[in-house]
Amino acid sequence: MKQPIRVGFALTGSFCTFARVLRVVDDLVQGGYDVTPILSENAGSLDTRFGTAASWREKLRGVCGHEIIDSIVAAEPIGPKAMFDVLVVAPCTGNTLAKLAHSIIDTTVTMAVKSHLRGARPVLLAVSTNDALSGSAANIGTLLNRKHYYFVPMGQDNPKGKPCSVVAHMERIPDAIEAALQGRQLEPLLAGAPEA
Ligand SMILES: Cc1cc2nc3c(=O)[nH]c(=O)nc-3n(C[C@H](O)[C@H](O)[C@H](O)COP(=O)(O)O)c2cc1C
Repeated sequence: MKQPIRVGFALTGSFCTFARVLRVVDDLVQGGYDVTPILSENAGSLDTRFGTAASWREKLRGVCGHEIIDSIVAAEPIGPKAMFDVLVVAPCTGNTLAKLAHSIIDTTVTMAVKSHLRGARPVLLAVSTNDALSGSAANIGTLLNRKHYYFVPMGQDNPKGKPCSVVAHMERIPDAIEAALQGRQLEPLLAGAPEA
């Protein structure tokens, strides 16, 4: 029997996209992927107007059927044990982009990426940040030029109201995973306005 593709799925603190991302996680699981959830410390602990941390944790555990990786210690074996075929960071905040671009590894998610990259396996980022075309632009550029990193196609979600904001088309994550597993960036990378 064909082994399922093993996806590490990391969420960072862009809470407004969580509901959309959870639907994609559900689609992946329904499609036969083996998905393990990973949460940054902020994503896993902050109660926001988009929901409580406990409710997001419960939903993720329920959909994935795996315990959540939510500490640097729990993320460390990802590389040594070759746990995932691909690691997705969706949503990926400006904060996490900055850390990855500068190899600052002080959260569960940055540790997961660093550990996974040890085995030269693909990392897929789904950007969601209001400063993508200002403060985060250099970091996105840096990661676009780094080996093993791929991006989910993205666009300006509100060019008039938030001219520097960019959000990934979360519904394209499954296609972007397949492309990344083949060593390919899904194109076009810049793709209109994502769903609000
Ligand atoms: C309600 C709420 C929504 C947020 N949305 C975003 C966002 O869409 N993009 C982003 O980069 N940061 C956003 N932030 C800020 C991040 O949560 C913050 O930078 C945090 O330090 C990110 O940590 P992490 O990258 O380790 O998850 C939001 C914060 C809150 C409270």
